[in-house]
Order: sequence, then C-alpha cells, then structure tokens
Amino acid sequence: VNIRQLHHTAFHFQPPKNWINDPNGPMYYNGIYHIFYQYNPKGAVWGNIVWGHSISKDLINWKELEPAICPSKHFDIDGAWSGSTTILPSNKPIILYTGVDSNGIQTQNYAVPANLSDPYLRKWIKPGNNPLIDPENGVNATAFRDPSTAWWLNGRWRVLVGSERNSRGIAYLYRSRDFIHWTKAKHPFHSAPNTGMWECPDFYPVSLSSKEGLDPSYMGKHVKHVLKVSLDDARYDYYTLGTYLTNDDKYVPDNASVDGWAGLRYDYGNFYASKTFFDPAKRRRILWGWVNESDFTQDDVKKGWAGIQAIPRIVWLDTNQRQLKQWPVEELNTLRGEIVKMSHQKLKKGHHIEIQGITAAQADIDVTFYIPSLDKTEEFNPSWEDAQRLCANKGSKVEGGVGPFGLLTLASKNLEEYTAVFFRVFKTSKKHVVLLCSDARSSSLEDGIYKPSFAGFVDVDLADKKLSLRSLIDHSVVESFGGGGKTCITSRVYPTLAVLDNAHLYAFNNGDETIIVKNLNAWSMNKAKMN
Ligand code: FRU
Repeated sequence: VNIRQLHHTAFHFQPPKNWINDPNGPMYYNGIYHIFYQYNPKGAVWGNIVWGHSISKDLINWKELEPAICPSKHFDIDGAWSGSTTILPSNKPIILYTGVDSNGIQTQNYAVPANLSDPYLRKWIKPGNNPLIDPENGVNATAFRDPSTAWWLNGRWRVLVGSERNSRGIAYLYRSRDFIHWTKAKHPFHSAPNTGMWECPDFYPVSLSSKEGLDPSYMGKHVKHVLKVSLDDARYDYYTLGTYLTNDDKYVPDNASVDGWAGLRYDYGNFYASKTFFDPAKRRRILWGWVNESDFTQDDVKKGWAGIQAIPRIVWLDTNQRQLKQWPVEELNTLRGEIVKMSHQKLKKGHHIEIQGITAAQADIDVTFYIPSLDKTEEFNPSWEDAQRLCANKGSKVEGGVGPFGLLTLASKNLEEYTAVFFRVFKTSKKHVVLLCSDARSSSLEDGIYKPSFAGFVDVDLADKKLSLRSLIDHSVVESFGGGGKTCITSRVYPTLAVLDNAHLYAFNNGDETIIVKNLNAWSMNKAKMN
C-alpha cells in the first residue's frame, strides 16, 4: 500500500487530489449545502488558486463540481482568493472574493450564479462592474483580503475586509445600499496592535439563551457577537466575544475576552482560516476550518494531495457566556458502524486498556471519565499559562496526581507510535485547572516532520468530577472535543506502523488517582462518499 492510501482520510472533506486551503463561502441554498475552497487544480502545493466547489445534502457526503471561480480578469489573474457568500433577500446568493492582480494588488470582487434554476449552481459569472472595492484611502494594497459575509442594518449592507497597518491587525468596515457601491467607514470595525495581518474575518451573533444559530443580520436583544480573525503570524484562529455597538458601527470585545495571541481559539491544534454560516434548514451555525498537512512538501507531492477540512461543527455560546462551544454536526453519526461499549471500567495508575473490535484508524470515540477523588491533584504554578509548553513538559508518560489520563489513538501494538489525547488536572487555591493535550510527539517513527504537543485549558469546575472527550480518528487526523466541546484540538499525524488494521486504541492513566471510564462508546466509521 502506498503512502497516499495509508494517510488518506475516509470522512474528512477533501477533493480527489491536489492542494486545498481555506473553506470559502459555505452556504445552504434551496436544500443543498455548498462548500467552496481554495484549490490548486494543478498540484499538491499552494498556487494557481481557484474556488473549488462541492455540494452535499448532509454535510458529510460530497459531490465535486467544476471550480466556481477561476482567474480570468486582470483583477484576479494571480488568484481567486478567499471570501464569503451572502444570500440576498430575494433569495439570490452572491459571492464576494479577493482577486489578486499581476502586481499582487488585492481587490474585492463579486460573482453570481449564471443560472439560478440550476439546483447545483455550477456556473458563476463575474459581472463587468468588478472590482467592487479597491484598496484606497491609505489601505495596504497587498494586505487587503477575505471579505466576510455581509449583514444588513438600517438600510445598508456591511462587510468586513481583513488587513494590517504597522503590525496592527484591522477589520475594515464597508457599507453599501445596493451591494455594488461600497464606501469605507471612517473607523475600522475593530483592530488591535501587534497582532499582524488579520485574515478571514468572520462576524456573527450568538444567542444568549439557546444553541440555535442566528442569521448574520439578526439584531434582536439577547445576543452577543463573535469576531474571529485568522492571525497570519500565528497561523491560528482567534475569536473574541463582545458587543456590536450598532450606533457607532463598532465592535467592542468583552473585558474578559482578549484580542490576539493570548485570546480564545476555536481549536488549539491545526485549524485555520475558518468560516461559519447560518443553516436555516436546521437553525444552526456551522463552522468550517482548514486543517493543513504537517508532513514534508515532498510527501504531499508524492501523495498527490494536501489539506483537508475539519468535520463541520455547530457553534454556540456556552452558558457561562465566556466562550463558544463546538460539536460535530449530527449528520456525522450516519457514518457510524459497529459499536463497542465500555462502562465502569477502572483505570489504575500505569494501566492501559485496549478498546477492541472497531477499526481504530477510522473511528468515533465518545467517553466520559469519572474522577472518584481529587485529593492528589497537583498544584498549578501560575507561570504555566502556556498550555502547549505545559503539555510538552508533562506528556502522557509523566506521572501526575489526577492524570494524565485519556486515549492513546493511532497506536501501534507495542506503542512505538501513538497520539495521546489526555487530560491532566491541577489546582490553585481557588479552583481546578484542567489541561487537554493532543500530543503528536510519539505519533510517527518518521523523523523531522512537525509533531507538536498541542494543548488548551478546559474551563470546567469539576463539581461533578466528570470529564468528557470525543475524538474523531481518521488515519492522519485526530480531531478532539474536550468538556463537551469547550476545548477542541486537531492534530495531523503520519504513523508508519499504526496504520489501517495495525492501528490500535487504548484508554490509559498515568496519575496516582484511579480514574473510572464511566461510559465509553466507540464506533467504527464508514467511508463518506467524498467527491
Ligand atoms: C489564508 C489565506 C487568505 C487568502 C488565501 C489565499 O490561508 O492566506 O488570506 O485569501 O489564503 O489562498
């Protein structure tokens, strides 16, 4: 079996071959989900960027169509870069995207379906009055991209465009009455110093009282707003929760919600350039994010493909109103096959128990751990604010008080290879501190590839002494949701032994306190119909 088959995913989105990056303009239109994506039709490295296009009825099984937007005009001849869709009130979808010209100048352009009666919206045209928005008025012309979905307020459309000025990240605001003539607002919608280029800004309301998603133009009370930006320098997606001051047309993050590198992330692993959309069919907000490769470029060329999209996730506001929560869309469950269960299983210090009877390289695991006693919890040192460094220092084999405990995924029989996804609990005088790690350092015997120990804190109080973990394992990706979706971490891994039927799955504990696997469901996953 060649490397391409070994690490090819079975239920994560990808086209049949070649490079992909950002998800673009996801939408639901007349009964069909559309996903567009940055795509190189000519190879497995970034370049020649067009808008790839696939459609689905369930967000899981996809059919590939011809690219929706290809470079053809002077303003997009060097690339049809990222952007969004907006459904106009007349039920007409419209794409806004960034065109790059031969001098690298970035402008915002639009495209519309050539034929609205084609249920798949195969062909898109670029009307002659493009570009709609030029980088004028002091805007940095080579850092001006990724228009957001538009929202409607007081007789005008609004969109955000990402930018940078003297290391200050900026989301510029543009307004229009007719979607064609756009005027830059005097003040940026939001900006923050020392955060560098803001790519792919995304702005939307979340309900204070329910998991339901909201239309981007919803302006009712009982909401907060989310502003997400992709920090080009960090290569991670950060968001804040805040208030949309509609009179000033400005966004102000909550006091507890900080901009930039110390802020909240959708995912503490490999996940970038994400974008949400409102699904009116199931009244939910769905998040798509790009999961890049972390192998060598020459491996991508050999495989003939690079990049996948994370499983689409619903996003909603946590009841604590300090953060978002995320969960794989329910449609993923249709791929579940054979199930194996475990309950009330003791995990003593130093033990690992195999979860047998499923395809461990292609699986969905949902587990709740119970911690009978927190007596031996280790002290948390306040200087340990960097979760990733903490996980690097206290890996799955470093014995603790409560934890490390969790799963060894994509593990070889004798544990030469494994990706450990685990919790470790600490305490301060005031509270418990829970760390979730997705540690790829032992994921592969291959040297030199990027094998980071990704980690994030999980904001739970442990009053019920329970911690839940869901992990989606798909050959070269482990996508995990800790604390019911409070902290998500996605890792790319390239095992050499723990592949296909030679992959195993274990539950383990290396902490002094015995942990109980209260309830574990593990499913073999079927292959999705993927493009
Ligand atoms: C983010 C990004 C966007 C740009 C696109 C180009 O990954 O750099 O800012 O529009 O990718 O492919």
